[in-house]
Amino acid sequence: MVEAALPYLTEHFGNPSSTHHYGRRPREAVARARQQVAALIGARPEEIVFTSGGSESDTLAIRGIKADHVITQPTEHPAILEACQGLDTTLLPSTSSAVSTRPTSTRRPPAGRRWC
Ligand SMILES: Cc1ncc(COP(=O)(O)O)c(C=O)c1O
Repeated sequence: MVEAALPYLTEHFGNPSSTHHYGRRPREAVARARQQVAALIGARPEEIVFTSGGSESDTLAIRGIKADHVITQPTEHPAILEACQGLDTTLLPSTSSAVSTRPTSTRRPPAGRRWC
């Protein structure tokens, strides 16, 4: 991945969303990567959304679908638990062997409070 990304960090580092000349090569690379990822998982290219990292992906997934209820675990990454703040959320118990289907709590945390 480093090898594939290097030209776009050192030489063709224009903004792929820009219409100017410097964005052309990066834009083509992003389109190619989108097609490759889509083919890999059997999706359509327009279904692929690239984000800047894990926390942004968590927030987009949890907040982006406007779910009525979220089910997660207290051991999840803090970015996931923070994205659940203010949402109707069930925290399943964490076990060493399997995911339980019996929720231990259903609560809506006050805004600004952390779950763990
Ligand atoms: C589920 C999850 N969310 C968020 C992150 C944090 O990612 P980032 O530092 O790219 O925001 C991680 C990191 O491992 C993660 O596993």
